[in-house]
Amino acid sequence: MKKCERIESVTVHAPATVANVGSAFDAIGFAVHNLGDTVTASLSEANLIQIRSIEGDTNQLSKDTKKNTASVATHALLCALGMETQGITLDIHKGLPIGSGLGSSSASAAAAVVAVNELLGKPFSRHQLVPFAMEGERIACGTAHADNVAPAILGGFTLIRNTEPLEIIELPSPTDIFVSIVVPNIELRTSDARKVLRDTISLRSATHQWANVAGLVAGLYQGDLNLIGRSIEDVIIEPQRSKLIPGFYDVQQAALQRGALGCSISGAGPSLFALSDSNQRAHDIGQAMTTAWSNHRIKAEYMVSQINTDGATLVPSPVSAEQTTTAAL
Ligand code: HSE
Repeated sequence: MKKCERIESVTVHAPATVANVGSAFDAIGFAVHNLGDTVTASLSEANLIQIRSIEGDTNQLSKDTKKNTASVATHALLCALGMETQGITLDIHKGLPIGSGLGSSSASAAAAVVAVNELLGKPFSRHQLVPFAMEGERIACGTAHADNVAPAILGGFTLIRNTEPLEIIELPSPTDIFVSIVVPNIELRTSDARKVLRDTISLRSATHQWANVAGLVAGLYQGDLNLIGRSIEDVIIEPQRSKLIPGFYDVQQAALQRGALGCSISGAGPSLFALSDSNQRAHDIGQAMTTAWSNHRIKAEYMVSQINTDGATLVPSPVSAEQTTTAAL
């Protein structure tokens, strides 16, 4: 007879994300492959949340559970279940550089809530987990925005139509779109990149921008890569944040000259992303952007990805010989 064992530990990988997608500030994001954070959540007898380890690109990340996005998100989830005294131990592996604009804080929070939810028998749907991960964002940068955490959990392109109440719309993700992401060797804190933003904008800019956001959504539904590329143009946030990114306009120009459909800041920066229609072109663009940054004496690395539609995924634990025997009985 198959023995029903309590799961003691779950490991989840959550991907890097590109948020804003140019014009859609705090509203649209998408997930990519090859980069992300991994969190193992384990049940414990301690009656509290503990961070046992943080490995990888840690950059002196805090193990203080009130300051770490993974533990803050876990706490929000447990509170919603009335299980504040449930002991959970977190082991975090940072695959994402902090302050790079690739959704590092979100990936840890997203991986944590998906892992803890699994550990507790899936009381919540994936959509319902997003508000818990948003609490991690609140700690990280002062605002509980969801344009990184939603795609990190759900995958693909997601639209946050509203945050109170939260309304998430999963958008189509064209399979023939390629993303070049270029990460310079500069750190830019999201909180600082938000502080520079003015509270007021002109009606002319607003009109231009919301027409672009509508164009982006239409382009995704129509699978029209050129329309998507044109529509990521950001006339509000990019001009303000570009001042924080040395060489920004040269790097963006290098991408467009190599045939990028569009290019803008990834998240709060300093990384840039460019969209294109082939793997080869995406590599050429990534290389050109890297070179443009090196002309400013800034080291940068690039990666190419298609859209990751899986979002956060469970990492299977190695099956021991003993478990295999038990399952077969
Ligand atoms: N929408 C966010 C911003 C993404 O641009 O500030 C970074 O967390």
